[in-house]
Amino acid sequence: MKPLSVVILAAGKGTRMKSALPKPLHKIGGQPMLSHVLSAARELNPAQLIVIYGHEGEKLKAAYKNEDDITWVEQKTFLGTGDAMKYAMPAILSDSNVLVLYADTPLIDAKTLQAMLEKVDEKNLCWLTVEADQPFGYGRIIRNDAGNMVAIVEEKDANVEQKAITEVNSGLFAISSHVLAATLPRISDDNQQKEFYLTDVVKLALEDGLSIQTAAGDFTLLRGVNDRVQLSELEAIYQNQQRRKLMLSGVTMIAPETVYIHGEVKLKGQDIVIEPNVTLAGVVSLGNNVHIGFGSYITDAKLCDDVVVHPYSMIESSLLHHNVAIGPYARLRTNSILKANSKVGNFVETKNITLGEGSKANHLTYLGDAEIGVGVNIGAGTITCNYDGANKHKTIIEDDVFIGSNSSLVAPVEVKKGATVGAGSTISSSISEGSLAITRATLRQIQNWKRPAKK
Ligand code: UD1
Ligand code: MG
Repeated sequence: MKPLSVVILAAGKGTRMKSALPKPLHKIGGQPMLSHVLSAARELNPAQLIVIYGHEGEKLKAAYKNEDDITWVEQKTFLGTGDAMKYAMPAILSDSNVLVLYADTPLIDAKTLQAMLEKVDEKNLCWLTVEADQPFGYGRIIRNDAGNMVAIVEEKDANVEQKAITEVNSGLFAISSHVLAATLPRISDDNQQKEFYLTDVVKLALEDGLSIQTAAGDFTLLRGVNDRVQLSELEAIYQNQQRRKLMLSGVTMIAPETVYIHGEVKLKGQDIVIEPNVTLAGVVSLGNNVHIGFGSYITDAKLCDDVVVHPYSMIESSLLHHNVAIGPYARLRTNSILKANSKVGNFVETKNITLGEGSKANHLTYLGDAEIGVGVNIGAGTITCNYDGANKHKTIIEDDVFIGSNSSLVAPVEVKKGATVGAGSTISSSISEGSLAITRATLRQIQNWKRPAKK
């Protein structure tokens, strides 16, 4: 087998997107379109991965600065897909099979690409075509009487008869580097748009005595994204794919059409329930029997077995161990580590904390920069005062501590093992093991108090 060169066209202006963002960076499922194409390509282990960039290209390159398997080629003129390919030609391995992909066709899959490559050699190239219920805007596939593909005619160049053809060009094809090198320089811009059409490779290859093979793709997956309506249509298809995959792997979704996946869900178990209106973003890992309640938003988190997220909770970059329960209305911010059997209740915000095994913060609390031991009870309205206006400080609460309601813990501060803090206290120095700390003023009562009367 010859080495594989993948070339992704991503230099177009994307005029119809009406956006300052390069089209390949517009997202499907929380990932730029180009990233989806790159993932499919990488599954084939290509010897090279070339991306042709141009319009707002620096922004595009910057988004991929850590992906060093990409060879970037700049298209300096914007004269169409054929022009773009001419810039890539010098970078392409001289004796390879070339797979041409579009950054605006993000739902392509490796299996379809593999099928195309199997039909390519020095005498044959393979074009991916699709049967479209609405062919408007696409290049139409022209076949001769014997049924062989002989040309592609763009919408703007097509006559009435050709416009009626429903087999259209996906844009994707596989070709030998030698055939590409022989045909590219002969593409002309003699057409309605005065552009160099890469699709002209078809008729030029035929002139050279080659045959055009075709592979059939699924139109719903291979629609190009040219405007934001099409972007939303592909998003809907992508979301359905993700939901199906999860449901078929043991996840119950009560209203799947309202669940959004903006990243990668790693299933570490089954019998997971996702209630309506949930969004999972980034990398989210879910264990056995995890239950995610209505309206929750979870990003980059690991939820171990038996975790329950009650409705309307938010979790960001956090770790929830076995049998943790949070919410309703809990907000776990970055680096909240909740150990087994711990609980975080309604209107509790946490950030950068460890909550020990079996510990509870059930109501109306802020816990930030805190290390909380085993079996601790944090009363309603407790606040860790972690920020002095300039720096953050740490609160350490050891095992079996009881913090009474409406207490402020002014960090840096430690409450030692088994200590009790009386309700309504402001704790500004460390509390020793087993003691009771209370800063509440003594209660006074004035008998028969007369309230002021209106004059
Ligand atoms: C193209 C095809 C059309 C096909 C359709 C499928 C041509 C002439 N037409 O039309 O037959 O049905 O895709 O979606 O090829 N690009 C560059 N440099 C350029 C122009 C475009 O890199 O100068 C890139 C774009 O970034 C995009 C891809 O090429 O990723 C396709 O360009 P686009 O302008 O969207 O072509 P279509 O009009 O959709
Ligand atoms: Mg397009």
